[in-house]
Amino acid sequence: EAGDFLAEKGPYPHFMLKEIHEQPGVAARVLGSWTARGDGTVTCDAAGLGWARVPRLTIAACGTACLAGQVGKIWLERIARLPVEIEIASEFRYREPPLPEGGVTLVISQSGETADTLAALRYAKEAGQRTLGLVNVPTSTIAREVDVALATHAGPEIGVASTKAFTAQLLCLLGFTVMVARQRGTLDEADERRWIGALSSVPRLIAETLAAEPAIAAAAAGALAPASDAIFVGRGLMYPLALEGALKLKEITYIHAEGHAAGELKHGPIALVDATVPVVALAPSDGLFDKLDSNIREIMARDGRVLLLTDAAGAARLGEAAWRTIVLPDCEPFLQPFVQAVAIQLLAYHCALARGTDIDQPRNLAKSVTVE
Ligand code: AGP
Repeated sequence: EAGDFLAEKGPYPHFMLKEIHEQPGVAARVLGSWTARGDGTVTCDAAGLGWARVPRLTIAACGTACLAGQVGKIWLERIARLPVEIEIASEFRYREPPLPEGGVTLVISQSGETADTLAALRYAKEAGQRTLGLVNVPTSTIAREVDVALATHAGPEIGVASTKAFTAQLLCLLGFTVMVARQRGTLDEADERRWIGALSSVPRLIAETLAAEPAIAAAAAGALAPASDAIFVGRGLMYPLALEGALKLKEITYIHAEGHAAGELKHGPIALVDATVPVVALAPSDGLFDKLDSNIREIMARDGRVLLLTDAAGAARLGEAAWRTIVLPDCEPFLQPFVQAVAIQLLAYHCALARGTDIDQPRNLAKSVTVE
C-alpha cells in the first residue's frame, strides 16, 4: 500500500515539504480508488450501510483528523442532507452521549492508533452503532476494529504535522458524501457524474496551488515569521480550515495562533487585533465573501494587518486594502478546502523555515498519540 510514496526525504530538506508536494499524486490515487469502476459512479465499501435510513452520523477524531471531519460535516449536511455530529474524541466518551438507533459512527485517524479515537470507537460500538474508519495505516488497530475500514491511500506520513493525510481524508470524505447523497436521493445519476468530474480536478487544483509556493514563502518569511501571535479567520468551509491553519502554524513555528469563525471576532477575539498581530483571512470569493469582506474591513479599521488568501476575484475586490495578498487558483466553492489546505501548509512550513525550528519533529509533540 505504501506504493510510490516512500518513507525517504529524497531531494527535500524536510519530510513535511516532501509530503506537501506529494499531494497531487495522493489525490490521484484516492480518486483512482473511489472511481475504480470507471462508470461515472463512486465506489465505496461503506455503501452497504443503507444511508437512506441512517438517522445521524457521528464523527469522532483528534487534531487535524477532527478538522477534516468538520469539513466533512458541512459537505454531508449540505450535499447529502445527512445530520452529522462532530466530536473531539478525547471528550466524547466522558459525556456519555446517547447515540441514535440505527446510527453510524465514523472515526478518522491517520495513524489508526490514537488512544482517544480508539476509545471513542469502542464507546460507539458498545452503544450499538455501526462503525466506519477512515484510516491511513491499513494494518492499524482502528482499521481492524471498525466494521468497515476506508483507506486514505496517502502512503507513509513521517512529518509530525499532518499534511497529505489531511487532504486525502478530505477527498475521501467528499467521495463518501457523493455516495451517501446518491442513496439519500439528493443527487441523481447526472449529478454524480458531474461530481466525479469535479473530484477529478482536485489533483490539478492542488498542483496549481503548489505553484503559488514562492509568493506564500515570501509572505511567510516577511510578514508572519516575525510575529509572536497570529489569527486565522474563515467562514463556512473555511472555518475548519482557519482552525487547521492556526494548528499547523503553532505546531511547527511555536507562534501563538488562534483560528476563529470570522463572524465571531466581534464577540471577543477582535480585542486582540492591533498592528502587531497578523490576521490570515481564508477568503475565496464564494457565497460568504460579502460577509467576510465586512469582517475583514472591521479588522483593518482596528489597524489589523490582513494577509489575504484568496482567488483572482477576491484579490480584485480586497487586494488593495489588504496588507499582503496571495492569489490562489479559482475553483468551485465546494473544492476550496483543497486549495486553502495546501496554502496554509506552505505558509506554516515557510514560516517555520524562517524561524529555524525543527520542522519534522516539533518540540513536545509525537506523531501518534497512543496515551490518553
Ligand atoms: C496534526 O498536524 C497533528 N500532529 C495532530 O493533530 C494529529 O492530526 C492528531 O494527533 C490525530 O492523529 P491521527 O490522525 O493519527 O489519529
